[in-house]
Amino acid sequence: MSEDTLTITDNRTGRTYEIPVENDTIKAMNLRQIKVNDDDFGMMSYDPGFTNTASTRSTITYIDGVKGILRYRGYPIEQLAEHSNYLEVAYLILFGELPTKEQYQVWEYDILHHTFVHENIKQLMHAFRHDAHPMGMFIATVAAMSTFYPEGRNIHDQDTRMKQIQRLIAKVPTVAAFSYRHSRGLPYVYPDNDLSYTGNFLNMLDKMTQVRYEPDPVLERALDVLFILHADHEQNCGTAAMRVIGSSHTDPYTAMAGAAAALYGPLHGGANEAVLRMLLEIGDVQHIPQFIKDVKNRERLLMGFGHRVYKNYDPRARIIKRIADEVFEVTGKNPLLAIALELERIALEDEFFVERNLYPNVDFYSGIIYQAMRFPIAMFPVLFAIPRTVGWLSQWVEMLNDPEQRIARPRQMYLGEEKRDFVPLAERG
Ligand code: CMC
Repeated sequence: MSEDTLTITDNRTGRTYEIPVENDTIKAMNLRQIKVNDDDFGMMSYDPGFTNTASTRSTITYIDGVKGILRYRGYPIEQLAEHSNYLEVAYLILFGELPTKEQYQVWEYDILHHTFVHENIKQLMHAFRHDAHPMGMFIATVAAMSTFYPEGRNIHDQDTRMKQIQRLIAKVPTVAAFSYRHSRGLPYVYPDNDLSYTGNFLNMLDKMTQVRYEPDPVLERALDVLFILHADHEQNCGTAAMRVIGSSHTDPYTAMAGAAAALYGPLHGGANEAVLRMLLEIGDVQHIPQFIKDVKNRERLLMGFGHRVYKNYDPRARIIKRIADEVFEVTGKNPLLAIALELERIALEDEFFVERNLYPNVDFYSGIIYQAMRFPIAMFPVLFAIPRTVGWLSQWVEMLNDPEQRIARPRQMYLGEEKRDFVPLAERG
């Protein structure tokens, strides 16, 4: 008997099956042969929330949740955050290798020269209510971009595909900045292609009457590192949505709007917004013991804690904590930091959190930095979506190039009524 197999005995029939094991995984379709009789559909696996189901083979991002390791294309996140910049990391994630100097120059030029959006996109964004949530505007505008670039539907043509990828990475900061200016009732600021990716983003957010906007180098770098940390995170909810929608061969704008919609939820990328609201509600370190009590009584969630994959300190949270100190040197300390640090201290000592392996995740400290940088809370999920764009698109390309991938279509266990006959309204009791 081969060692790389799993032997399953079906005690209902006494039959034994030998299932191949590859990369510690069995193919779910190999369970289908397990039947009680010829009429039986065959065995399925049941996995709500896909907690133990690999939906793809991937070579992009590696996470060891127990050891707290995150790597993009093999490079540790700590090294990338220390030595690289967002556009270089975006290239790495998309193409699999760090660029040469020439490749980087071409890539940077291509991204920084696709930052403008069609004037009608601006008009479209103007039509939102004055207090529209920026993430709602972002999702809707990305979806609308599919109507401006209908050639994007030609997803099997490599050149067309790459063009849409460049457009999306280049234009999401512009759409994000316009949504911010809209929410503040300020005129939209056009991109400045002579600035860096994050420098230009800050320009579109903050520029008022200056002839030329000069971004603060510390804040520009801090935002760049935050973008590196958020660039990809393997098969999370938003990325899974990107792959599922993309598997029907829709265009990348529409698929990405769906991915961003998934990110918006408070259990995912909306958590940074939820953390800030939670810290504001706690308001004072004196109120923390009562808050922790409520969490343990299951009346509340400690937002920014816990993760499906990390059962250890999220390595991104560690890096963010360090950046916070650099940002506060420029902006002054955010008073909410004291509440966050005390919450973390208590939670990391408390049995409830310890036995469930609940540690701070990426969202616990990022919101405190964003707030110190004077971003409104509603902008936080948008700040997550901008850098995640490259992750979504890289995973989308990987999915399209994978001959094993098919349209995503899960199974269900039907536990409803058996066939029954319709009863006319007048005869119902
Ligand atoms: N506060 C209190 N209890 C929690 C928390 C929390 N933040 N997270 C998990 N638990 C408890 C949960 O009640 C459960 O307890 P029990 O086993 O007694 O029923 C146990 O810990 C396991 O949690 P789970 O909900 O089964 O874990 P999950 O993998 O399904 O959910 C999660 C992961 C991130 C949705 C969850 O931890 C959560 O809701 N956290 C707060 C929201 C948050 O910070 N989300 C950002 C995630 S990181 C950014 C991203 O990549 O999206």
